[in-house]
Amino acid sequence: MKIAINTGGGDAPGLNAVVRAVVLSATKLGWEVCGIRRGYQGLFEEDGVVALTRDSVRGITHLGGTILGTTNRGNPLSWPVEREDGTVELQDRSEEVVEEFRRREIDALIAIGGDGSLQIASALSEKGLPVVGVPKTIDNDLAATQVTFGFHTAVATATEAIGRLHSTAEAHSRVMVVELMGRTAGWIALYAGVAATADIILIPEIPYHLDALCAKINERYERGPGFAIVVAGEGAFEAGGSPTFQEGPQTGASARSGSARSGGARFGGAGSGRARLGGIGDKLARQIEERTGHETRSLVLGHLQRGGGPIAYDRLLALRFGSAAVELVSDGRFGCMVALRPPEVLAVPLKEAVANLKLVPTDGDIVRTARNIGISFGEE
Ligand code: F6P
Repeated sequence: MKIAINTGGGDAPGLNAVVRAVVLSATKLGWEVCGIRRGYQGLFEEDGVVALTRDSVRGITHLGGTILGTTNRGNPLSWPVEREDGTVELQDRSEEVVEEFRRREIDALIAIGGDGSLQIASALSEKGLPVVGVPKTIDNDLAATQVTFGFHTAVATATEAIGRLHSTAEAHSRVMVVELMGRTAGWIALYAGVAATADIILIPEIPYHLDALCAKINERYERGPGFAIVVAGEGAFEAGGSPTFQEGPQTGASARSGSARSGGARFGGAGSGRARLGGIGDKLARQIEERTGHETRSLVLGHLQRGGGPIAYDRLLALRFGSAAVELVSDGRFGCMVALRPPEVLAVPLKEAVANLKLVPTDGDIVRTARNIGISFGEE
């Protein structure tokens, strides 16, 4: 038996722990394991598929990033090919990927990824590749699993950062606005905002009203604290408005065509196909200062939330996912993804796993806890 592992999409603390659990569990069964570098790109590079042994995964459980490298470009389902006239057409090249696995005599793939990478895995599975998926994303937005590894590490990092903002905000009597990751889900902002006792938390699931959040800030200045902490998920938006996107070239496939010639062997030219969220923190800071007259600063915590090693919870979850993925391969249960359904790690069909995103329930207990302890969501 020869299996391959790859890591795709944005990195998340815990990827290396999954890789280690897969390699150790599989070698224990006498299988051969190889790692594909940078998602699927390595399949088409001379040294892009590497043997993974007990030695190659020694001492990596606690390390951030991924020893295999990752990419959120290069989607083989939607690969940009430049036409004669210079325009770009998106093509499905997944058959070539499946063929490459066959040529290399790889019996199964364990694909570690978020919703984008798992959609690719699901499509490859439908084309006949034996695949088991492992869910990964700091955003925690996959509906099929209670939690993804990396999320709690990101929350811990963000909580510490917000905690540190309190003293400087108080010292300067300022409003501090911190923008956190999470895309269209507000999980990181909600968890970190409540744990770090923000005054206002803005999440995409609850469109905010600028008047309401400025009223909350003014109230804090009138009542005594004299400073305020605002946590904004990057996908948050004003009621009646829309999310804020980063300016400049986007990672969408249409924005890049340079290395995307038909017949090329690499899946290197495609973007993630998603516009990049960002800028809500800055925008809010300007609006808050203008409306309330209180000095306001903003910061974007950005990739610090993805960097560094996993906390104990994520290490353990990642090791459990890696071990469970090998069990599924061993049982011949392909086209599935491992998922945490406490107290067990179970298998769910990949198709079902990628069907829905998990958003914050707006009447869930954490939102209610926040409201009960006086945190505002900028609601009217
Ligand atoms: O999906 C994980 C995530 O970190 C999001 O929270 C964020 O919007 C995005 O990835 C950033 O991706 P990039 O790696 O392109 O900066």
